[in-house]
Amino acid sequence: MSVAKKDYKRITTKSLVEMKQNGEKISMLTAYDYTMAKIVDAAGIDVILVGDSASNVMAGHETTLPITLDQMIYHASSVVRAAERALVVVDLPFGTYQSDPKEALRSAIRVMKESGGHAVKLEGGKEIKESIKRILQAGIPVMGHLGLTPQSIYKFGTYTVRAKEEEEAEKLIEDAKTLEKLGCFAVVLEKIPAKLAKKVAESISIPVIGIGAGNGVDGQVLVVHDMLGMTHEFHPRFLRRYMNLYEDMSTAISQYVDDVKSVDFPNENEQY
Ligand code: KIV
Repeated sequence: MSVAKKDYKRITTKSLVEMKQNGEKISMLTAYDYTMAKIVDAAGIDVILVGDSASNVMAGHETTLPITLDQMIYHASSVVRAAERALVVVDLPFGTYQSDPKEALRSAIRVMKESGGHAVKLEGGKEIKESIKRILQAGIPVMGHLGLTPQSIYKFGTYTVRAKEEEEAEKLIEDAKTLEKLGCFAVVLEKIPAKLAKKVAESISIPVIGIGAGNGVDGQVLVVHDMLGMTHEFHPRFLRRYMNLYEDMSTAISQYVDDVKSVDFPNENEQY
C-alpha cells in the first residue's frame, strides 16, 4: 500500500504523530558521527537515533552498558551538526536515569543543552515512570523503548525474542499504555512477536517504531552499520542488509595496500 508522503522541511515529534494518523510509515536509523549522519539525513530519513549501540559499533564493547553520558553527548553533538531535516533522538545511557527522577532530569538536560539533540530515549516502562514524568515536565520530549531493552541484558541473560509468554506480553501492553499516558511522543519495540507489536500499535495513539517487531507497527529502525553490512558477523533474522560494505571496504583497503607497496600510488597526476 502506498501512502502520499507529506513534504516535511523539518521533522518534529508532532510530524511523527501526524504520520501515524495519515498511515505514513516512519523511517529511523542510527548514526553516531557527522559524516554518516550527513548521508543518512540527506537520503531522507525521518528520525536519526544516536543510540547507545554506539557502545558496541563505535567503541567495540560487548554490551551497551559501558558508554557514558559524556560520550553520548559527543556522538550526539556531531550528529546534530549534520542533521538538517531529521529529528535527532539521543539515548540516555545506562545508569544516568534509573536511580532517581532528579538525576534523570539532570542527564536529559545535559543532553539537550550540550548536544542540541531534539529528544531523549529511555528504556523501560512503569518502573521508570517518575523519571519520564520529571523529564517531560521540563519540556523535553521522551521516546520510550520496550521489549528487548539491551541495558537489561544481564537480567534477561540472552538477546532472544521477548514477550513470547502471556504475562510478559500483558506487562508490555500495559507499559506501552503507561508511556502514552505519561506523554511520550513515540515508543520503540525491540525483538518481540509481530502479532503483539501490531496489537500495541493499534491500541495506542503515539507512533510505535519496531526493530525485529514485524510490519504491523508505525515505523522501522535499524542500526546503520548493520543494514549497510559493515558488522558482517551480526546477522539476526530481522536484519535486512542493503549493502555488503564490509566486503567492499576490505577490497578497497587491500587494493590501497597493494598500490602503496608497489608504488602504483600516488601516480604523476596524484602529486604536486
Ligand atoms: O541503541 C540503539 O541503537 C537502539 C536501537 C536498536 C533501537 O536503541
